[in-house]
Amino acid sequence: MAAKALTHPEEWIRRAVVYQIYPRSFQDSNADGIGDLNGITRRLDDLAALGVTVLWLCPFFQSPMKDNGYDISDYYAIQPEFGTMQDMDRLITEARARDIDVIIDMVLNHTSDKHAWFRKALADPESPFRDYYIFRDDLTGLADLRSNFGGSAWTQTPDGAWYFHAFAKEQPDLNWENEAVRREIYAMMSWWLDKGVRGFRMDAITFIKKDPAFPPLPPDGPDGRTDVGKACLNRPGILDFLHEMKDNTYGPRGALTVAEAPGVPAADLPDYIGPDGVFSMVFDFSYTDIDLVPGDLWARRRPWTFAEFKQRLFVNQLAVEKTGWAANYLENHDQPRSISKYFTPSQIEKYHDRLAKLLGTLFFFLRGTPFIYQGQEIGLTNTRFEDIDELDDVNSHGQFARCLDEGLTPEQALDSINRRSRDHARYPMQWEDVPGFGFTEGTPWLAFGRTCPDRTVAGQRGDPDSVWNYYKSMIALRNRSAWSDVLFDGDFEPDDTGDELISYRRTNGGSVVHVTVNVTEHEVDASEWLPECGTILLDNCADAAGARYTPFEARVWTDAEA
Ligand code: NOJ
Ligand code: CA
Repeated sequence: MAAKALTHPEEWIRRAVVYQIYPRSFQDSNADGIGDLNGITRRLDDLAALGVTVLWLCPFFQSPMKDNGYDISDYYAIQPEFGTMQDMDRLITEARARDIDVIIDMVLNHTSDKHAWFRKALADPESPFRDYYIFRDDLTGLADLRSNFGGSAWTQTPDGAWYFHAFAKEQPDLNWENEAVRREIYAMMSWWLDKGVRGFRMDAITFIKKDPAFPPLPPDGPDGRTDVGKACLNRPGILDFLHEMKDNTYGPRGALTVAEAPGVPAADLPDYIGPDGVFSMVFDFSYTDIDLVPGDLWARRRPWTFAEFKQRLFVNQLAVEKTGWAANYLENHDQPRSISKYFTPSQIEKYHDRLAKLLGTLFFFLRGTPFIYQGQEIGLTNTRFEDIDELDDVNSHGQFARCLDEGLTPEQALDSINRRSRDHARYPMQWEDVPGFGFTEGTPWLAFGRTCPDRTVAGQRGDPDSVWNYYKSMIALRNRSAWSDVLFDGDFEPDDTGDELISYRRTNGGSVVHVTVNVTEHEVDASEWLPECGTILLDNCADAAGARYTPFEARVWTDAEA
């Protein structure tokens, strides 16, 4: 049976391979130790050589950098350390010249507390800007919510009133009930589209709708508070805002939109993606957050197994397939490095490259658009933090404080940070085997990683067996090979293979391609479950053959019969 004919999202979005850039840590061009827009432009040839087609830039707008740019003080200005608006225009043009589109991060749930709107709201309680945010004179009878970064979600102002923030106190939430706010936001989004950006990654978008009554909820932690997500995620009425936003901005322009949309159950997916939805794709957190207890301390690791991982991955693929298109990813700027999350230190020591390629294979050929986070393509792992002062991440500091409040020792709190800090993904990129890694000629804003100094893009480009070249081959196989049609538009079907292998097939007409990975450290015989292996299209082990899967082998292959 042919794969279902898809009209949504558009073909260029379905064919896209997105590469996510954290500007601060990607490439410094002026030796101040901070990555910048001109640095990104300088690296476009490296990105084109890899084969990616879309860049997602994390925030570069004017910002006090309390949350590294997710606290925006002017949506129309570039933060000076990242460059100028001319640099941005040049980046967009130079990327286009290489057939690469640029999408940008839209942080619409909150602004910085230094945004002119919030400053005016604070300066004068009678100002119309007061109603751009969520202020209350007193908190009696309101839910006592814990912000996403720890501590109360309500902060008192010098005039005695309280304002609401789902994230840090320097990130006051916008009041989407106010039509003037919505109009400002739509004008700003359209302005960026007019500039030539081809779409948006929508930050924390499922938080925008609140119940203005903030009815109390049962506490869920020793602090007596309730996780803010329980009160503010995917609330009734949010779709009115989202449709209005889409219709007034990117909808008529065929832009790529990918939403950070926690709190959307599978049953609600048709509201968010597919022909009647508001976005091209949404990110699924079920398998990337498999090691977390939602809303709880990072220290309380959730025990998980690969059997469960497989189940979550497949449930999501099948749910999305009914409705629309997936955004498949392993890492981003909020996640620790995937190899470190899913494998043990001794496994990494023995099989580092193989594991990087295994994870790459597993996610890259799922049905949907693959997203690659900077450094993933060279197999970077978590670094090691020896002191809380080495960390920049506002969330890591919040978590550390929460750990201590809940009675953990400083050592345990630091272990927790070492497991989950967002700074594992934010240490600077490793380009070349020189001091400063070709990232900077100055002192980097965040210390370089300590765990894999031998992994650089330049070193790996010259090595045909490297992780970088494997990623390049995966992109070529998906986008520019005889198997492209099935790999990019084919249906997704799970293979039934027990717990030691994760295996699925993509089918389109008579074409079938299997993706099979052995998630164990021992050999596994697949003949009990899978048809005989025909052609091997890609493999992470040199000696791949037949039905025998060596430890952590990953294979893309076709049926002998087909
Ligand atoms: C999600 C972003 O990915 C994260 O980095 C940020 O801290 C929060 N949203 C708040 O904007
Ligand atoms: Ca710089």
